[in-house]
Amino acid sequence: GITRHYKFDIQMTNVTRLCHTKSMVTVNGQYPGPRIVAREGDRVIVKVVNHVQSNVSIHWHGVRQLRSGWADGPAYVAQCPIQTGHSYVYNFTIVAQRGTLFWHAHISWLRATLYGPIIILPKRGVPYPFAKPYKEVPMIFGEWWNADTEAVINQALQTGGGPNVSDAYTINGLPGPLYNCSAKDTFKLRVKPGRTYLLRIINAALNDELFFSIANHTLTIVEVDAVYVKPFDTNTLIITPGQTTNVLLHTKPTFPGATFLMLARPYATGQGTFDNSTTAGILEYQHSNASSSPSFSKKLPLFKPSLPSLNDTKFVADFTRKLRSLATTQYPAKVPQTIDRRFFFTVGLGTSPCPKNQTCQGPNGTKFAATVNNVSFSMPTTALLQAHFFGQSKGVYTPDFPIIPLMPLNYTGAPPNNTLVSNGTRLVVLPFNTSVELVMQDTSILGNESHPLHLHGFNFFVVGQGFGNHDPEKDPAKFNLVDPVERNTVSVPPGGWVAIRFLADNPGVWFMHCHLEVHTSWGLKMAWLVLDGNLPNQKLPPPPSDLPKC
Ligand code: C2O
Repeated sequence: GITRHYKFDIQMTNVTRLCHTKSMVTVNGQYPGPRIVAREGDRVIVKVVNHVQSNVSIHWHGVRQLRSGWADGPAYVAQCPIQTGHSYVYNFTIVAQRGTLFWHAHISWLRATLYGPIIILPKRGVPYPFAKPYKEVPMIFGEWWNADTEAVINQALQTGGGPNVSDAYTINGLPGPLYNCSAKDTFKLRVKPGRTYLLRIINAALNDELFFSIANHTLTIVEVDAVYVKPFDTNTLIITPGQTTNVLLHTKPTFPGATFLMLARPYATGQGTFDNSTTAGILEYQHSNASSSPSFSKKLPLFKPSLPSLNDTKFVADFTRKLRSLATTQYPAKVPQTIDRRFFFTVGLGTSPCPKNQTCQGPNGTKFAATVNNVSFSMPTTALLQAHFFGQSKGVYTPDFPIIPLMPLNYTGAPPNNTLVSNGTRLVVLPFNTSVELVMQDTSILGNESHPLHLHGFNFFVVGQGFGNHDPEKDPAKFNLVDPVERNTVSVPPGGWVAIRFLADNPGVWFMHCHLEVHTSWGLKMAWLVLDGNLPNQKLPPPPSDLPKC
């Protein structure tokens, strides 16, 4: 591979949406931010210079970072944040991955405005396992707040309540014509008839899983999270924050001047963190006679897709069951067949007592909290990876993350009286090359809710999922160990469970968290510490000299 250099200047920029202008943090003044384009096997070097008041760090979401954990990005996990006036060079190689991923800020809620696509092309001369598309189009979903997003989350954390919902969803930063004042801010995809387009769809929204559909068109799903899947057709797809989905769009043989709406809006199972507004883009067919300057007719009717209802869990479950690895000789599914360590994690919301001399806006005057095995993760004030590497874990983290819930209960039953929440910076320690099976169960303490869990540093195989309580006697017999989907973010279904497997072949400290940003803020996160192996190529190298200090 070759080396690709990028420079990210983090700077304040005025951006107007919904007739509302705000000064916000951007990369190079762009919103959404610039694209990273590379080929499988390339080295990517991004110099990030922080010109703003806030601390910043950037995460390359889904890039495996094999033995390059210093470049992973989550603040206080992989690195201390980059302070005002400082810079840091992220340096990593893209190994055995090709497809669509994205980058985003990984500190507080800065990712609301700091995000952009990562496009990984196959090695030169290696074709896609599907017909070559005529064009490729990145489409990145986001969320826009008129207010400053740091103020939104800080206020929620101070009052213990839920944050204000966003004012709009966006496609490539544009809300679209269903929002006030936004007809001019509409994503338009101009297509020729009878061609195939590869849409590289990314959900960079903060707090919502999204349905997406294009009127009168079928989408062929070909890849998720930078791993090819067995192609299948659908009218609508579901994509959680942190997931990416490549689809083929076959345009109709002839439809001169026609326009079709494409819509994205939430799949919402929880309470309070969504609105039911919809972002729209427009698919426009070029006139058949159009030459260098195409003209578009406004006279034909606008076709609208119909999306599943807001809480259509059945649609989501059916869709996710169709996702299967290619599992071919060229793209094998390397599912761990034997397991060294098994874990059972409950994930979900809970509450913690309101601190004295404060009034809290959570349920019954408490504070919202979110937990994994009843532990709400406390962010340390120095980076976990540094603490580990330099043998300074004392007072930073403890290696005793509970491998089963602290409070066993009927997870999908009525809310218990005692919603045990403890705080801690507790890690699971794994020897190099441990094969892991992890069952994650939604606890439903405050009602059923879907949680898109993202694991840094690894892809995992989704070997099983179901509703109700996971049954350790019966369910494993039904696991798919042949062609399960391989990805980096998976939703734990509302009132249900999901089972994943991965091989801990990447030494370092790896964050795992709900990619609904509000749940991460409330503590639905933990970290795995994978120890070095014995061979030189099984060890994490020392950090680069410009690694930021806390
Ligand atoms: Cu895309 Cu830890 O996140």
